Amino acid sequence: MTVESVGPEAVQIPEPCTPPLAGGGVPGLGHGWKLMRDPLGFLARLRDHGDVVRLRLGPKTVYAVTTPALTGALALSPAYEIGGPLWESLEGLLGKNGVATANGPMHRRQRRTIQPAFRLEAIPEYASVMEEEAYAFAARWQPGETIDCTSEAFRVAVRVAARCLLRIEFMDERAERLCVALATVFRGMYRRMVIPAGPLYGLPIPANRRFNRALADLHLVVDEIIAERRSSGQKPDDLLTALLEAKDGNGDPISEQEIHDQVVAILTPGGETIASMVVSLLHVLTEHPDHAARIREEAESVTGGGRPVAFGDIRKLSHTNNVIVETMRLRPAVWILTRRAVTETELGGYRIPAGADIVYSPYAIQRDPRSYERHLEFDPDRWLPERSKDVPKYAMRPFGVGNRKCPGDHFSMAQLTLITATVASKWRFEHVPESNGAPRVGITLRPNRLLLKPIPL
Ligand code: HEM
Repeated sequence: MTVESVGPEAVQIPEPCTPPLAGGGVPGLGHGWKLMRDPLGFLARLRDHGDVVRLRLGPKTVYAVTTPALTGALALSPAYEIGGPLWESLEGLLGKNGVATANGPMHRRQRRTIQPAFRLEAIPEYASVMEEEAYAFAARWQPGETIDCTSEAFRVAVRVAARCLLRIEFMDERAERLCVALATVFRGMYRRMVIPAGPLYGLPIPANRRFNRALADLHLVVDEIIAERRSSGQKPDDLLTALLEAKDGNGDPISEQEIHDQVVAILTPGGETIASMVVSLLHVLTEHPDHAARIREEAESVTGGGRPVAFGDIRKLSHTNNVIVETMRLRPAVWILTRRAVTETELGGYRIPAGADIVYSPYAIQRDPRSYERHLEFDPDRWLPERSKDVPKYAMRPFGVGNRKCPGDHFSMAQLTLITATVASKWRFEHVPESNGAPRVGITLRPNRLLLKPIPL
């Protein structure tokens, strides 16, 4: 058959149809209980039911997208905006006026305000803070003591984000408060996402009180940070100055609430995601001593062995980079993303009604055997240029795609590379008996309770 023989009249465009319903729903509860009990396994198995699948969460129908190509189409199409269960659960934290939750012209304006702080050329400005914090992170431990990796990782992640992006110095006490508050808030947010039982969360029980206290303290720290900068009268060329001086669409200063929400929207995703990746990387260094040794050798060959790795070495640390990317593939910090359809639309031949919630899982996409050979094997060398070219488009997008793509991607990769190479050059690790590296599902994904014993090299 030649191309010419297929005339326009021969092309049959099928009507979009309703996506199949995923199996295993329970009357009344739908698929919610499966999503609660085993979210990662449940989302990964949806690919066996179709490219787009309907789920029932209580009375609600949610659409799950299961192929890399369709997640790309979803993220790039103007027919979908930020919305759905993930973002609704985060609204109490992130507000409605910050870059992570706003839509339309407001979102575009906000991205323009924050983008300069994250552009590739701006990252070297953060070099000295990132180096200092990576060295301090690896220098804090005593040989043989037990380290609680989650709190250590939160500490370094929050400190780097706050010191680099908001230029907050002398912030030990604030960093601790932010860490404690964020850990409680994120736990509560996840519960509110998977069990959307609104009135229950208003009851004066200890869990709700703890959550409300943590949320209030988080907002208070942010107010303090803003007030302090204002009263200092200083206007360094940084993200906080950009936010304080930002104008809205009419050229008027943006509201106090918007400034506040913007600071929260940048500090919190920055802290939580990087912290989760640092814990996962410490787990990888423990479980894969062969790769830890290769990272160490690479660092030594780049530095000549006489000094710690520096920001300027990052581009040469290619195996370290591949270990980080492979860790992000198998344990992506952001394991679930949601959107809402603005209008009735079509995706992969299926009809998506206006207002529908859509969900997809970078975890499931990045573990799909159709995209990756030996898909569950930890193999950083799959990211060598000659092999990575075979990875299908959108099958590895841990920072997202399109207009909502993470602005912190270069910032994160620089920081994670410095931390991983610095730590692997100084320590090897052993689990202590109570350590549990199994994935813990919350707003982000990270090892459950990683408790390690550092042993000097
Ligand atoms: C958005 C991942 C670090 C700030 C996102 C999105 C992903 C992501 C997947 C897109 C969400 C969507 O499509 O709905 C990550 C990962 C990180 C990381 C894996 C680290 C390993 C950071 C850092 C910051 C940051 C360090 C800032 C300090 C943001 C913001 C958004 C975002 C503000 C919202 C962007 C928008 O909606 O326009 N992140 N992120 N992230 N991230 Fe990150």
